Amino acid sequence: MSTVIAISGKGGTGKTTFAALVIGYLLEEGMVPVLAVDADSNSNLDMALGVDLGSTVGAVREEMSEKVRKRQLPAGMAKQDLLQMQIEQALVETKDFDLVSMGRAEGPGCYCAINNMLRVFLDSLAENYRFVVVDNEAGMEHLSRRTARGVDVMFVVSDPSRRGLETAARIRALARELKLEIRKIFLVVSRVREPVGGDLERSIESTGMDLAGVIPEDEQVSRLDVAGKPLTELPPDSTAVEAVRNIMENVLQEVKS
Ligand SMILES: Nc1ncnc2c1ncn2[C@@H]1O[C@H](COP(=O)(O)OP(=O)(O)OP(=O)(O)O)[C@@H](O)[C@H]1O
Ligand SMILES: [Mg+2]
Repeated sequence: MSTVIAISGKGGTGKTTFAALVIGYLLEEGMVPVLAVDADSNSNLDMALGVDLGSTVGAVREEMSEKVRKRQLPAGMAKQDLLQMQIEQALVETKDFDLVSMGRAEGPGCYCAINNMLRVFLDSLAENYRFVVVDNEAGMEHLSRRTARGVDVMFVVSDPSRRGLETAARIRALARELKLEIRKIFLVVSRVREPVGGDLERSIESTGMDLAGVIPEDEQVSRLDVAGKPLTELPPDSTAVEAVRNIMENVLQEVKS
């Protein structure tokens, strides 16, 4: 059984950074193999992890529907087999983790039968991994698309702003309202510039959410970002890396119990 970790939150709060650091932690601890899923159509988890993206599931899906339209499917080949082959093509494999990027969001030309088949395949693919880490699109739409199901831990990432934290609380409320199968939902406050206290502490409390931890604004993260370098180059004593290590140790303990 794999542990599925999903990461959500408002735009630009540090979701992808957090996802990459969570994956870095799992690799460091030998909690492998890991499947990284970039579910953001404007994907950049590949860059954060320092891998080259081949194809995306979106592109594969396009190709597939094109073939269906033009009746170009090889005779005798079941659609499902062809699709599975193509999904495998969209998977970037490295020693300890694989990455699959969803690519473009479902548009007007969406091919629902194929999307459903894809979900089935991703579900079965997930079983091959010890951890699956999903970096979601900003906002709440992915929740209503119900791709967040069978999730063990959802981290809702917020910046320290009041509005950001209110959005985090709304995301949790919607997840509950939709009765999504999410075992635990935690708040993560990222890019924190000063010790937590006063107004920030009150804003965090008013979300009513379980705080997994805060991640300080880390100059080394900014520097790599500006240089277009992957976060895998962060030294182990970076404050962000240390914060994520603490968060993961506590959360994994809680999830196990
Ligand atoms: N702890 C941190 N310290 C310094 N900079 C950070 C930190 N976390 C994130 N950033 C920076 O903030 C910006 C947004 O981060 P990131 O891309 O992770 O956010 P996101 O929530 O995934 O954004 P989007 O909604 O666009 O997907 C990036 O420039 C990133 O380098
Ligand atoms: Mg992102």
